[in-house]
Formats: sequence, structure tokens, C-alpha cells
Amino acid sequence: ATNRTFTMIKPDAYEAGNSGAIIKMIEEAGFRIVAAKLTRLTEERAGQFYAVHKERPFYQDLCKYMSSGNIFAMILEKENAVADFRKLIGATNPANAEAGTIRKIFAQSIEKNAVHGSDSDENAAIEGAFFFAGTEQF
Ligand code: CMP
Repeated sequence: ATNRTFTMIKPDAYEAGNSGAIIKMIEEAGFRIVAAKLTRLTEERAGQFYAVHKERPFYQDLCKYMSSGNIFAMILEKENAVADFRKLIGATNPANAEAGTIRKIFAQSIEKNAVHGSDSDENAAIEGAFFFAGTEQF
């Protein structure tokens, strides 16, 4: 079925000037952008977004990093969006990502890994609503 996923272009990829190239890959893979916003997280809001990782050793660094610069938040629509988008971005650690994936091409490290992708339909809805009002989704 056609459904939606949520993504952010993270501060490393935004600062490197890779937003356009990443969005081009996303559109060429058949995703339709149904919401988009250039924004910035405070450390506190990053902490809320990543609350599921609260007990992980990398949590504090992650929240600092994700609030260190601009991010490009988007909701994407496609058949099988969540799984297909995770295939397009590749493994969390770019060292393990397949050739041709967004993270293999653009990520700097396991933390500065260029893009986020929701891991389930349920989280896609929660994460999308974290950034976008219903009236901002098309
Ligand atoms: P993402 O999967 O989008 O959401 C959780 C983020 O935490 C992940 O991307 C990375 O940016 C970061 N992350 C995950 N695992 C590690 C790790 N082992 N060390 C540092 N950062 C990590």
C-alpha cells in the first residue's frame, strides 16, 4: 500500500551542501515529498525526538550533534515507503552501508550519518507529527 515515512537531512549533510543531491536521489527513487521544512532542533527537543535512545551511551552526543545545525525535515510518500526508504539510505553505520546508498555516499560516521529514516509506520506517523501540523502535509 502507499504510505509515508519521515526523514531528516542531518546537520553534517546540510552543512556540506548535500541537501539538493540527497533530495534528488529521494525523488528519483520514486518518493513524493508531501511535507518539507528547513528547521533546527534545540538540544531539549532533540532529546524528545530520540527519547527511545535515552539509555544509550551515544544519546547525549547525538542530541548535541542534532541540535548543532540546520536540518531538512520531510515526509515522503510511496508504495512501501518505510522499508524502501531504509533500503535507499543504507545501514546506520556508513562503513556497513551498500554502495549507492545515501549514507554510503554522504555520511561521515555512524553518528554523522547524513539522514534519518523512520523504522516503522507507527514511528513514521509519530515523527512526522513531531515536525509538521496536518495543514503542512500535502
Ligand atoms: P538514526 O538511526 O537516524 O537515529 C538514531 C541515531 O543515533 C543514528 O541515526 C545515529 O545518528 C546515532 N547512532 C546510532 N548508533 C550510534 C552509535 N553506536 N554511536 C553513535 N551514534 C549512533
